[in-house]
Amino acid sequence: MNNSVGFIGTGNMGGALAKAAARAVASEALFVADKFADKAEALAAELGCKAVAAEEIAKNCDFIVLGVKPQMLAALLQELKPVLNARTDEFTLVSMAAGVAMADIQKMVGAEYPVIRIMPNTPVAVGQGMVLYDHTDNVSEEALAAFCEFMGYAGRLDPLPEKLIDAGSAVSGCGPAFACLFMEALADGGVACGLPRAKAMEYAAQMLLGTAALALESGQHPGQMKDAVCSPGGSTIAGVRALEQGGFRAAAMNAVEEAYYRTLELGK
Ligand SMILES: NC(=O)c1ccc[n+]([C@@H]2O[C@H](COP(=O)([O-])OP(=O)(O)OC[C@H]3O[C@@H](n4cnc5c(N)ncnc54)[C@H](OP(=O)(O)O)[C@@H]3O)[C@@H](O)[C@H]2O)c1
Repeated sequence: MNNSVGFIGTGNMGGALAKAAARAVASEALFVADKFADKAEALAAELGCKAVAAEEIAKNCDFIVLGVKPQMLAALLQELKPVLNARTDEFTLVSMAAGVAMADIQKMVGAEYPVIRIMPNTPVAVGQGMVLYDHTDNVSEEALAAFCEFMGYAGRLDPLPEKLIDAGSAVSGCGPAFACLFMEALADGGVACGLPRAKAMEYAAQMLLGTAALALESGQHPGQMKDAVCSPGGSTIAGVRALEQGGFRAAAMNAVEEAYYRTLELGK
């Protein structure tokens, strides 16, 4: 693609997304910046791109990806505002800040620049993320297509109205922590049955990966997939009953709802 993309804030999420984007964006069109220049330079060396000052990205890039923590965003945009306001060409701001609305970003920069809001999750680091996104009406079709091209390497992209992003995030953004708890608990069960820890972890992780892939690829309902593994009077249905006795489904539903309410609280 021909567009230039700059990442400001190369921490966990910004860094992971920059790595994904590097697969679509030519190295001379990819830029990274961080408060800690060393951090940006190490990432730039890994990706074969350039580490620059945040102002340079704000001045020149077609896509300016904001990867700082939500509480740092206002200060960063205050700093970049004069540089952005001096531009006469078209550019798009991409924000990953949890709980910050697109209208808030526009207020922070004092102009209605095109904004794409994304909600990624940690598996973007291995190209298996879930990236929810919405955009302001003034994002051009070309810009959206270019965004989908470079963000596509982070995983699965799904357009979602902004009012649902917090709900989506409670499943896909917070979900890796819930899935990890399940994964660890399954491995603990394996160890209790005599498996070495490393093997139990590997089996649990690959089983979750494979089951998710099967659900997505086949389009089967999880209930149907569960039924297919449960033979009458067999061992799997005995395990299913144990999970039901432990209130597993209610616990998982409550986890998502609690995470959602907490996001709403933090956004106030
Ligand atoms: N992690 C997740 O699972 C996840 C999921 C969805 C969305 N997000 C969003 O992703 C964003 C980043 O989160 P994170 O977990 O990646 O945080 P992080 O690891 O702390 O990364 C933020 C980076 O930005 C740098 N930074 C701060 N102010 C800066 C400035 N003015 N100019 C340039 N760089 C600056 C930070 O440097 P310092 O360390 O020196 O402050 C840090 O390296 C947040 O908005 C978060 O809501 C994260």
